[in-house]
Amino acid sequence: MTPVVYPGSFDPVTIGHVDVVRRAASAFGKVIVAVASNVRKSSAFTVPERVEMLKDALASIPGVEVDSFEGLLVDYLDTIEAKVVIRGVRAVSDYEFEFQMAHMNRQLRPGIETVFLVAGPEEFFISSSAVKEVACFGGDVSGFVPAVVADRLRERMKNS
Ligand code: PNS
Repeated sequence: MTPVVYPGSFDPVTIGHVDVVRRAASAFGKVIVAVASNVRKSSAFTVPERVEMLKDALASIPGVEVDSFEGLLVDYLDTIEAKVVIRGVRAVSDYEFEFQMAHMNRQLRPGIETVFLVAGPEEFFISSSAVKEVACFGGDVSGFVPAVVADRLRERMKNS
C-alpha cells in the first residue's frame, strides 16, 4: 500500500492534527506524518521532541508512522516513493498558502497530488501558534492538544 504523507511543523501537535491523521488513515490506510526540520520559523520544541509527542499522541491510530525530513518535501517524497500529500485546512486564510504550496510541489515534481481535509467544527480554530500563545500566558490548553503535549507545553512556556 502506497503511503500518503502528512507534512508539517507540528510545533506542537494539536487535536486538529490528530483529527486529520485519523481521517487520513481511515481514508488511505497508511499515513506517514513527517515533521519538517527546516521550516523558517522559530520553534518551541526540537524536531526529536515533536516526533516523540506525535508518536505518543498517534499511538492508538493504526497505519500511522512518524518521521522527520530536511530539505524539500518533494525530495523526501521521492525517497519513500510517495505521491500524495495530505494537508488540513481550517479557514479561508489557509487557502492562499496551501494552494501556493500544492502548486509549487506539483511544479517541482509533476505527479504529486495534494489532498485537503477540511477541519471539523470542533477543531477549525485551533493552531499550534494560538495554543502556544495561550500556554505562554498561563491559559488552559488541555482542550486543544493531546494530554502528553499539554504538560510539556506548560513546562516549556514557563521556562521561555
Ligand atoms: O505546519 P506547517 O508549518 O504549515 O507546514 C509547512 C510545511 C512544513 C509542510 C512546508 O513548509 C514544507 O513542505 N516545508 C519543506 C520545504 C519545502 O518543500 N518547501 C517547498 C514548498 S512551498
